[in-house]
Amino acid sequence: MKSRLSFQDAAGFATPLLAIFAVDIATGKDAEPLVALMTTSDAMTNAAAKVLGTGEFKATVGETLLLHSPAGLKAERLLIVGLGKVKTLSVDEIRKGAGTAIRTLKPRGLRDLAIAAPEDHALSDEHMESLPCPLLARALIEGAELAQVDYDIYKSDRKDTSVHTLTILSAATEPVTRAELQTGFDQGLILAAAQNFTRSLVNEPGNVLTPTILGQRASAMCAEVGLKCEVYSTAKLHELGMGAFWAVSQGSAEPPALIVMTYEPEGGALPGSPVFGLVGKGITFDTGGISIKPAEGMEKMKYDMAGAGAMIGAMRAIAQLKPRVKVISVVCSAENMPDGKAFKPGDVVTAMSGKTIEIINTDAEGRLVLADGLHYAQTLGCTHLINAATLTGACVVALGILNVGLFSNDEATVKSFEAGLEASGEKFWRMPCTDDYRDQIKSQIADIMNTGKSRAGGAITAAMFLKEFVGDTPWIHLDIAGCAWNDESKPWIANGPSGIAVRSIVEWVRSYSAEA
Ligand code: BES
Ligand code: ZN
Ligand code: ZN
Repeated sequence: MKSRLSFQDAAGFATPLLAIFAVDIATGKDAEPLVALMTTSDAMTNAAAKVLGTGEFKATVGETLLLHSPAGLKAERLLIVGLGKVKTLSVDEIRKGAGTAIRTLKPRGLRDLAIAAPEDHALSDEHMESLPCPLLARALIEGAELAQVDYDIYKSDRKDTSVHTLTILSAATEPVTRAELQTGFDQGLILAAAQNFTRSLVNEPGNVLTPTILGQRASAMCAEVGLKCEVYSTAKLHELGMGAFWAVSQGSAEPPALIVMTYEPEGGALPGSPVFGLVGKGITFDTGGISIKPAEGMEKMKYDMAGAGAMIGAMRAIAQLKPRVKVISVVCSAENMPDGKAFKPGDVVTAMSGKTIEIINTDAEGRLVLADGLHYAQTLGCTHLINAATLTGACVVALGILNVGLFSNDEATVKSFEAGLEASGEKFWRMPCTDDYRDQIKSQIADIMNTGKSRAGGAITAAMFLKEFVGDTPWIHLDIAGCAWNDESKPWIANGPSGIAVRSIVEWVRSYSAEA
């Protein structure tokens, strides 16, 4: 899709389809919806007036209404897209609105569209705070780029429904405003491309995307955007003493991959700035190993590398956005298989940090690979750690599919991470990770064991295990098990891999760079 931001009047723009946003401005609890367009253009208001007057369109999030040959407009069609109640409007509804426009267009065989950027001041007097300009343009392009992807590459009868051109039309006249919008637009393109890259990796089946292939894909991406990338395998794991990572890998015919990507800012990092360590769980397929999973639903475990995917995508965006901080990503990739050589319950393994781990359940493998990844990142000089992992079913039970579980050992780090969430629009829910939970992983025979004594609080137990390997380094653990895959499609996004956490991680890293 070719996308551009253009400063011109939407009513006079010739296009097969022009999308415009509408909100419900009714106040009062049980008030009937009162729909208002987010535009100051009389031509567009007039074109939509009649149909909006019927009350059939309520402007709920994802709702659409399509008009042909709208009077007074150059566009062949006018698509009105609902963004919900004005009181709860955030940039995330705008992201979804842009996505909805794209996904309404695709099945109709149309290839080109324009979106009229919402003019919040059209409503601001009585109804709303204005939306930050760069975020608005960013959200529009992000939503559109994320929406245009469908995961049909393995379908032989797939139809080409690609969108060719998108023009975002802005009525802004001030040079400063225009420049802000353009910056947001440019950043949004980078972020969405990175997130789509993550999604394309997570979509791959386990037979296609082995740890070795994941290493190759990461390496090719790094070459494209100018990142340093090293991919190691079995010998390096032994050399580094990564006994926990190796234990998971040893039952598979596929060798593991330890992927290290490095971003060094041109001209050096800001003095005193953190060195970020982005650590990803890259289990390309999780059978559970000897503690094998039930057959039902096991096919989904190809997405057990979504944490790795998120970090690889984040590195892609970081390389292009060029913050003035150093970032190292360590991805630990393996396949968890049952086999004559596989690790077993009762085994004791020694992690790179020197800690001994009693294996209770070989299905709790993600924390084992991350234990070594987190420790290794610190030896590479990382001062701030973040990891993402489809770590526990317990997190899915606790939080469902809308909020990522967030665990941390450092309040200031959580605050700085949360500061970026308005821009990213992603949702995270803080979960406890305090030392009183540590008893859960005390082992009788080794330093710790890899699962808790009981299943209670399973997501916290897993986080406590990881915490053993970060020492005093500020650290955030994101359990993305519930959010990394959408079983159902939405009006603004296809079902399949979500690419969760890419935008938020990048936002967090960038927030430490004065210039980005
Ligand atoms: N990859 C799974 C976690 C998972 C489960 C992700 C469901 C997405 C959906 C992980 O490796 C795992 O199997 N965890 C076990 C841990 C248990 C053995 C303590 C789990 O959650 O059941
Ligand atoms: Zn598992
Ligand atoms: Zn797993």
